[in-house]
Amino acid sequence: MEKILVLVKPDGVEKGNTGAILARLEATGTRLVAARMLKISRETAEKHYAVHRERPFFNSVVEYITSGPVVAAVFEGKDVISVIRRAMGATDPAKAEPGTIRKDFAESIERNAVHGSDSPETAEYEISLYFKPEDILSY
Ligand code: PPS
Repeated sequence: MEKILVLVKPDGVEKGNTGAILARLEATGTRLVAARMLKISRETAEKHYAVHRERPFFNSVVEYITSGPVVAAVFEGKDVISVIRRAMGATDPAKAEPGTIRKDFAESIERNAVHGSDSPETAEYEISLYFKPEDILSY
């Protein structure tokens, strides 16, 4: 079964939107199979965003994602990556469709409430940054 790593980002947690965001993701019909709150270390953030290392926003996004607590979660289901990313909306909230999480909760392309892995390979890598295999529960 396909899996995706989701982060409720520091702006989402700080504003008290964690529950609302997770509820919208659960409402997609996909299944929450792991969750934890943590403050991401600089080392982990640099691994998470390694693919963007050469981009001008790399330092800024690493600073931001380490600036406060996040909630990391794993969702599982058929086509879960496209289903969850559709519910999240476009990276830039100015371009997000009405009814999406980013349209309703995000402030900017950086403070955009939520992260979701963009492919099965990325999901496997990102899940391994935040969870041990035994943390992911089947039910
Ligand atoms: S891209 O351009 O398609 O590679 O960008 P994307 O993969 O959608 O998102 C890149 C992540 O970096 C964060 N971020 C920015 N992206 C683009 N431009 C600017 N200026 C920028 N600043 C920060 C963006 O929120 C994406 O974070 P994640 O956690 O992957 O959603």
